Order: sequence, then C-alpha cells, then structure tokens
Amino acid sequence: MLILGIETSCDDSSAAILDSERGILSNIISGQDNIHKPYGGVVPELASREHITNLPLVVDGALSAVKCAMGDIGAVAATYGPGLIGSLLVGLSYGKAIAFARKIPFVGVNHLEGHLLSPFIEEGGVHYPHLGLIVSGGHTSLYSVKGQGNYELIASTRDDAAGEAFDKVAKHLGLGFPGGKTVDERAKLGLPGAIHFPRGMARREGFDFSFSGLKSAVVRYIEENGIPDSETAMNNLLASFQEAVVDSLVDKIEKVVERFSTPMLTMSGGVAANSRLRAKLSSLAENKGFTLKISPMKYCTDNAAMIAFAGY
Ligand code: KG4
Ligand code: ZN
Repeated sequence: MLILGIETSCDDSSAAILDSERGILSNIISGQDNIHKPYGGVVPELASREHITNLPLVVDGALSAVKCAMGDIGAVAATYGPGLIGSLLVGLSYGKAIAFARKIPFVGVNHLEGHLLSPFIEEGGVHYPHLGLIVSGGHTSLYSVKGQGNYELIASTRDDAAGEAFDKVAKHLGLGFPGGKTVDERAKLGLPGAIHFPRGMARREGFDFSFSGLKSAVVRYIEENGIPDSETAMNNLLASFQEAVVDSLVDKIEKVVERFSTPMLTMSGGVAANSRLRAKLSSLAENKGFTLKISPMKYCTDNAAMIAFAGY
C-alpha cells in the first residue's frame, strides 16, 4: 500500500510517499525561512498562506518523484497537532479532502509522535521499549516509549525549548532565523570553554530541562560586552553557549539512563541535527553501554516522511 504523508504544522510544507513494503519513496519539503527572516520568527498568518500556495506543489512533487498518481494512494496521514492552528488546518483539510474524495482511510498524526518514531523510519519497524528524546524548536521532552501509542512523559522543559534558545540567541546576535544551524557551523570554529554559561537545572532534583536562564545569561553577556566584533570572539561565544545547551541535555540524560537503566535511547527533532549534541550523546552511550538511535539528518527537522511512517 502507498501512504501519502502531509506535514504543515509550522513553516515547512511537506509531502511524502511511504510504501508499506519498501519504506519512504519520496519526501519533499518546501521551507519558508526567507518569508519569516525579516521578522525574526514565524508569523502564523504568513505561514498558513504560504502552505496554501506550496502544499499542492509538494504533493504533486512527492507523487511525480515516484511516478505515481493520486489514484495509486491507499491512505492519507496528515499532522493534526500540535502546531500553529492556521498552518495545521491547511494540511489537515487538504489530506481529509483527498481521503474523502477517493474513499480511502485518513489518519490524523500527532506531530510529536512523528518526531518520536522518526529514528526508526529506515528500519521499517519500531523497537520497544525505549526512551525517546525530542529536541525541537517548540519542544524538549523525554518519553518512555513502551509500545505502539503507549508513551509516558518523563521530563520536559520548564520554559524555553532547546531550539528556541538557539533561535533567540542567534537573533540577539543578528545571525538570522532560524539560528540553530548557523550556531552549529560557527561553534565548530570556536572554543567551547571560552566563556562559562550556566547549565539549567543542573543541581535540581528530577529530570526536567530549562534553557531560559542560559538564554538570559547570554543576553546579559552581550549587553555588558557588546556583540563580538571579531569572527574569533563570535565563534567562541557561540561555542560556549552551545556547550551549555548540550551539557544541560546530556547531563540530564545521564541521570535518566542511570535511573531507568534503559537499553535504548533515541533522539529526534530539529536540534538532533546538532553535531556537538550528536557527538557528546554518542560518547555517553558508549560509556554507559546503551544503544543510541538518532534520526537520520534528513528526518530531524519537520518533514512528512515521519508523518507517513507514524500514520502507517
Ligand atoms: O523539528 P523542527 O524542524 O521544528 C519544530 O517542530 O520545532 O526544529 C526546528 C528547530 C529550530 O529551532 C532550529 O534552530 C533547530 O531546530 N535546529 C538546530 C540545528 N538545525 C536545526 N539546532 C541546533 N543545531 C542544528 N544543527
Ligand atoms: Zn517538529
């Protein structure tokens, strides 16, 4: 069976075709970064209007990439939430209309479940039980994944999401939006120990995360010292900030794996693309002896392949 996946929860219009036997055949994403860049964040009304224009094109693109037509599709899966309500409505209505007209099943998919299962897309099936960390622009949450649809929230952020911290710090430094990828690239050229920033919730009991104190500390640093005027100073600042985000996440994960003695941990969401986080979590997995499964890079940020897979 071929399943059409549709994702429009934020500012990416995406469509994918999943073959129940062969896996993902196509996954087309149309981003809107240039539309929202001048505003330093996603403008919901502009996002939904862009989806109306772009979604039919990415659906056509996903179908023609695998030389099939709408009549070949056996089911439709679309994100129903959480996300921007106007953006969600576009993809959800579009997907429901196709399913209704073609008399094929429609499956509404939770966007977070899409991220959570995305590390397994290329395996065809999900391994249970495991712990699943989602680190994205809107969420930083850790789940105990016990079985299909059986998820228990173990920890989440008390304030900002990890990706939000990357985006806000980048915006303060005039580095554009979204900022995570730029920070990642430039931090590779800087010294992570140049400036010490606080690690959120480090001494607190429990497993929750926090990033707003770190964000404020970076903003205070910029107010006191100005925006770095050399490439080196900027790269050092970014590397130091990124190190604090990564340490906060990895230190909490270390406590969680000790407490739950888990054989497998997964990581998904846009921030899972971060090279330093991937490297440090991989070392932790090696030291502690658990299996680490990170979403393939192409399935970290928002995409319809993960929606088709979770829907299936
Ligand atoms: O999963 P996603 O596409 O959207 C949400 O569901 O939120 O994640 C987008 C977030 C943004 O905050 C972006 O800055 C961040 O992921 N991001 C990164 C990297 N690539 C994307 N953060 C750190 N390092 C990266 N390489
Ligand atoms: Zn997402």
